[in-house]
Amino acid sequence: MKLLIDDADIEKIRKIYEFYAIDGVTTNPSILAKSGRKPYEVLREIRDLLGEDAELHVQVVSSKADDMVKEGKKIVEKLGKNTYVKIPTVPEGLKAMRILHNEGYKITATAIYTPLQAYLAAKAGANYAAPYVNRIDNLGTNGIEVTRKIHDIFENNGFKTEILAASFKNSLQVLELCEYGVGAATVAPDIIEGFINNTTNVQAAVQDFTDDFEKLCGEGKTMLNCD
Ligand code: E4P
Repeated sequence: MKLLIDDADIEKIRKIYEFYAIDGVTTNPSILAKSGRKPYEVLREIRDLLGEDAELHVQVVSSKADDMVKEGKKIVEKLGKNTYVKIPTVPEGLKAMRILHNEGYKITATAIYTPLQAYLAAKAGANYAAPYVNRIDNLGTNGIEVTRKIHDIFENNGFKTEILAASFKNSLQVLELCEYGVGAATVAPDIIEGFINNTTNVQAAVQDFTDDFEKLCGEGKTMLNCD
């Protein structure tokens, strides 16, 4: 399962990128609004940090297909080849997906709440379909189950479309989809940091190793200088 960061805060992205193997960044208009900065300025910084090979997913805001297409083209023109145009999976969006797909653009179908919505996105040529796990849970339906169904629909029908699971509230939701082998998940930085949890136990174990080694070789010694 690929792992992406669902945020536009450059410092948070930098910190996660320094330590973990991350495949890219996703944003949406609400995430960009939180930055309070000009969208392309923030996105350019993110792209420069990620490099041109990482995935950057950027959402269109227009509501008509023709305008979505124009927006999508501008997004890719400004942010480079591995930029995915995120398009809401509504009728106008599905029309825009088909047009952009036929012209070779990479598409992420977003705002997915049902398996059949994802099916339509796959038919329209989307590279990714993004079910909103936690928002689905909040409607009283099981977001994990919906996402698994989408995974099975893609597998059983031979679609190339991958899942980009989104909208997570906790790491258990991510774990369940990782176990199931979905294509990708985009997760907020604080939840990614929580993947290494129970830090008290982990730190205690590491400290014991250090103490034992220093008893053997002396204070401050490591495998670098214990000859
Ligand atoms: C995907 O990129 C979605 O825009 C995002 O994950 C939604 O997350 P939220 O439900 O936490 O706003």
